[in-house]
Amino acid sequence: MQTTNSLSSLIQSLGEFPPEAVIFGASESMQTLRARMDKVASANVPVLIHGESGTGKDIIARMVHGLSPWKGGPFVKVNCPAIPGTLLESELFGYEKGAFTGAYGSKPGRVELAHRGTLFLDEISELDLALQSKLLQLLQDGQFCRIGAQEDKKVEVRVVCATNRVLEQEIENGTFRQDLFYRINVVNLHLPPLRERRADIPGLVEYFLDYYNRKYNCRARSLSSDLLTTLQKYHWPGNIRELENLMKRYVILGSEDVISNDLMERGEQEYFNPDLNFDGPISLKKVTRQATRELERKIILKVLQAHHWNRKQAARALSISYRALLYKIRDAGLPPNRTSRKRPEATMNSGAAAD
Ligand SMILES: Nc1ncnc2c1ncn2[C@@H]1O[C@H](COP(=O)(O)OP(=O)(O)OP(=O)(O)O)[C@@H](O)[C@H]1O
Ligand SMILES: [Mg+2]
Repeated sequence: MQTTNSLSSLIQSLGEFPPEAVIFGASESMQTLRARMDKVASANVPVLIHGESGTGKDIIARMVHGLSPWKGGPFVKVNCPAIPGTLLESELFGYEKGAFTGAYGSKPGRVELAHRGTLFLDEISELDLALQSKLLQLLQDGQFCRIGAQEDKKVEVRVVCATNRVLEQEIENGTFRQDLFYRINVVNLHLPPLRERRADIPGLVEYFLDYYNRKYNCRARSLSSDLLTTLQKYHWPGNIRELENLMKRYVILGSEDVISNDLMERGEQEYFNPDLNFDGPISLKKVTRQATRELERKIILKVLQAHHWNRKQAARALSISYRALLYKIRDAGLPPNRTSRKRPEATMNSGAAAD
């Protein structure tokens, strides 16, 4: 089993990687993942990385390679959906001269290029059944056949696969081979969605803030605690990629309004996710009031948007008085009008724009 140090030194050697404390955070699920990765290091077995889009499968695949016995060898990534079906076989397994029209010479596939290294098959569920059986053979005996070749070739390669689909479901649908699933799933690394590791959000926010401030030579300030709380409540369908992009925009544009408006425009905050503290008594009245207020806020925002922020029209549409709407807008912490939502973009290097 690898020691903690080996993982830390690996991350350092990978250069642009976030520090270990940021990648794994403090959440239990990520600590379990980390411990698993340490174990994976010494065993040259296939690994299946599973997680929603933007949860960091790419990062983890590269780390698995960096921890493997063939870390000095190549890391060859194949983004399966990006290569059209007909080309994928030749891209993966290569071809011999004359194998098909246009094959004027022979060419090794990525499987061969990954010899004594890692072959990372991203979005493995996109492989068609014929290619799945070729991959199965590779995993069984390390052999494969270039298109048009008479004989099999042998490679030593560590296969890491990633998917954001539930492969068991694909098997049931008849689109994924069960025997292949067992082969690639010797070690399974599950990456939890960001909404299930909310405690890690402040660390990620701080990291991206610092990273993009340095990268773009900006001086955006730390986020207010109110906004940080909002970020921790948001459900992040795009996971860490979405958070990273949000922070990048914040750093470049330099205003917290950017983030607030972004989140509002997505209109996808978890309004029905009240903070329940199970250590003490829960006030049903209070929680319900909070949920009602949040629902009201969402409806008002939608109606304002539908009426291009014309508050008189919005008030009519909501069957309330104009004054009542103004009060509710203020009470809900919504911007008073559209112009105040669209701030001029701050120039770089100006630091966080004053609100
Ligand atoms: N644990 C992490 N710590 C810091 N940054 C991370 C972490 N995980 C992912 N990221 C960043 O989030 C972005 C998305 O990560 P990545 O590309 O690895 O996700 P993915 O799961 O492969 O997504 P997809 O399924 O869309 O390919 C990247 O810019 C990556 O640097
Ligand atoms: Mg990816």
